[in-house]
Amino acid sequence: MREAFRVPHLSSGPDDVSGILSQLTAARADREFLAGVELHLPRLHDLFLRLYGDRPDGVERLASVVDLARRSWHARPEELRDVDRNRASEPDWFESERMLGGVCYVDRYAGGLRGIRDSIPYFRELGLTYLHLMPLFESPEGNSDGGYAVSSYRRVNPALGTMDELADLAADLRRAGISLVVDFIFNHTSNEHEWAQKAVAGEPGFEDFYLIYPDREMPDAYERTTREIFPDDHPGSFVQLPDGRWIWATFYHFQWDLNYANPAVFEAMAGEMLFLANQGVEILRMDAVAFIWKRLGTTCESLPEAHLLLQAFNAVLRMAAPSLLFKSEAIVHPDEVVSYISPEECQLSYNPLQMALTWEALATRDGRLLQQALERRHALPEGTSWVNYVRSHDDIGWTFADEDAEELGIQGYPHRRFLNDFYVGRVEGSFSRGVPFQENPRTGDARITGTTASLAGIEAGDAGGEDRVILAHALALSTGGIPLLYLGDEVAQLNDYSYRRNRAEAGDSRWVHRPHRPEQNYADRGDATTPAGRVFSRLTRLIDVRRSTPELAGNELIAFDAHVDSLVAFLRPGDTGAAVLVLANVADHAVEIEALTLSGLQPDAIDLIADEPVALAGGLTVPAHGVLWLRVELR
Ligand code: GLC
Repeated sequence: MREAFRVPHLSSGPDDVSGILSQLTAARADREFLAGVELHLPRLHDLFLRLYGDRPDGVERLASVVDLARRSWHARPEELRDVDRNRASEPDWFESERMLGGVCYVDRYAGGLRGIRDSIPYFRELGLTYLHLMPLFESPEGNSDGGYAVSSYRRVNPALGTMDELADLAADLRRAGISLVVDFIFNHTSNEHEWAQKAVAGEPGFEDFYLIYPDREMPDAYERTTREIFPDDHPGSFVQLPDGRWIWATFYHFQWDLNYANPAVFEAMAGEMLFLANQGVEILRMDAVAFIWKRLGTTCESLPEAHLLLQAFNAVLRMAAPSLLFKSEAIVHPDEVVSYISPEECQLSYNPLQMALTWEALATRDGRLLQQALERRHALPEGTSWVNYVRSHDDIGWTFADEDAEELGIQGYPHRRFLNDFYVGRVEGSFSRGVPFQENPRTGDARITGTTASLAGIEAGDAGGEDRVILAHALALSTGGIPLLYLGDEVAQLNDYSYRRNRAEAGDSRWVHRPHRPEQNYADRGDATTPAGRVFSRLTRLIDVRRSTPELAGNELIAFDAHVDSLVAFLRPGDTGAAVLVLANVADHAVEIEALTLSGLQPDAIDLIADEPVALAGGLTVPAHGVLWLRVELR
């Protein structure tokens, strides 16, 4: 196929596209595939032109990417093509009120893939429809960053299982109504990946797979404007190779950044992505999207080309595995977080702002910053959704916009310092048992780790601890999009400090909130005399209510001014004129909403969580750390 293209550079005219199309027709490509190519190749071509227009091999690469997509489409199992067709007829499937995500480490939660399969009955009991299994690919022992340093995208870590088992698990999950989500760690590979080894050895075709420099000249120039991400591991963005050269490593020294300015890297990664799609993965969590493109003189974060790259991957998928979705992991300024979200780029995204501001509100007992974010930063384009969570396997960073905070008289820098101090228990009266992560004395920057229960006060024995766990989840379950549970948090798992005795983990405090499956808590989940039992029954009640409340589907949200600073309040409108009014009180005391404030609503409402009528005419009391989901009629 490659010989057919003699155009030296990508041209902006239609020649490249029609050339590639005629090749496919000659190959008698499947009609369904051809229809997808006709629809998406012009877009992919345009993206290639912008990314690789100045490269002599641009057209050739584009042609081989399309050929890769064709081969992948042909290899796609019929059952997955059925998923493609079904999703095409119900494109908003992931916006349903029935969606519920869970996330866990395969080894820590279930020992291996077989253990995950054995947990399917529990996942069904919980109502999961989405399961994110954290990195399960081959990864060097010790230097693995919890699996985020991948040595092969086509082999499962042998301690967990095999790729065939993963494909079987995907099918079992699908039959149980659960979509498999895995990480696509494509910004970097492990230093033991064969591409990395070949690049360092200077093997032809691989020299430009990574960013390697003979001396400090370029690293110094780049580091003038880049930020340190894991300063505990190494300063700056580069690490030195044994032969004295320098290689780009944004995260750990053993995670080497790929060079996407080289279209061969794009093609290679597209191949890995399509391979995973054909194993039955339905959603790829696009790891560290902000870092995938570098340009001298910039922060090398969220550059325009990062978006073009994601869109190009998206276009390739639309041709060969059209039901697969991308979820972006961009834990950055909120303006940048949304810039990754569109049907043509990432259809789903973590909502780190809501997550961080939920914790901010619980610490300050002031809901205004979260309320403001819901008001102005919650709306998303059609065909996209948030993934709302209380905490993840990563640290909590205070990624709110300083300019937003200033409007409320809050100064970003001291406020972040307060929040860090509060959550590591350095503030008098703090209920939290968090641990600092990547504290940088030079910049004063730090992030926070801890399980939900430990951060919220259960570990410290604070009387409001369980309520706060419920409140935080109630927000994630009611603001829209896909709510995501960190498995084990539904039974109030506490911090696990044993990482400090483990050499491979001691330097990374995120292990404190990645405990092994908390067997005792699960055993206690039916026992209301234990925190595990109480949290589980209250949380599963919320999950059940959400599942039968159509107003909680989708993402539409109208902020509601309750005239009480500690109240986070919003309406989730439904189709029938009814709406759900959500009220969450972050204060340690009950608050009153005045009758006048509620006068735009009919006086009779239904408390969905308690399943009982409630009268609004005389105003309303929201208890300390309390949450109400009220079905209301607008007057
Ligand atoms: C993402 C992961 C995190 C990992 C980093 C480097 O942020 O969530 O756990 O350390 O990428 O891969």
